[in-house]
Amino acid sequence: MKRIAILISGGGSNMLALVRSMTGDHPGRPVLVASNDPAAGGLARATALGIATAAVDHHVFHGDRAGFEAELLAHIEAARPDILCLAGFMRILTPQFVARFEGRMLNIHPSLLPKYPGLRTHQRAIEAGDHEAGCTVHEVTAELDGGPILGQARVPILPADDAGTLAARVLEQEHRLYPAVLRRFAAGGRIRLDLTSKPAF
Ligand code: GRF
Repeated sequence: MKRIAILISGGGSNMLALVRSMTGDHPGRPVLVASNDPAAGGLARATALGIATAAVDHHVFHGDRAGFEAELLAHIEAARPDILCLAGFMRILTPQFVARFEGRMLNIHPSLLPKYPGLRTHQRAIEAGDHEAGCTVHEVTAELDGGPILGQARVPILPADDAGTLAARVLEQEHRLYPAVLRRFAAGGRIRLDLTSKPAF
């Protein structure tokens, strides 16, 4: 049974999807939900599900990224995770932190990487006139949003879409893709998964 720690910064809808998927013959179980924001809504949701939580407020470290990570790492290491899942985690991690979990740290990004690494992914896809968007689960390496792709899900961009409507459509697919990729990854699979939602029209 693989021990899964999940890092969040906000509401934790992806964390919830992952936690809800880890039942029955799933090879993983959640052991910790940690956040850089003590007020992250996902922490209360994790507690309600009986999962241990930890919060380290990065503001307290005033830009001392290494100090923040050392504190966060103490909580993570105490949970003895086999795999780390970043799920709506909005802090950039140092190469030192990443190196510690190289090959066993995943992230979900709301674009079809390698397109649109970084922020405002939906607005950028709309402004570029793209006809499809989506999300990517990848292994985390020192290169931001750059590691080996483990899975993608695609959605259509509709003429009336704005960033909000597109984000909602992509988020639905994130909640399908991440659990499917984690299950495969925890079982030792590395074959890339591609989910394409049926076009809405
Ligand atoms: C969402 O924008 C999602 O696309 C990205 O992180 C944000 C918050 O996700 N992965 P969550 O609801 O906190 O999981």
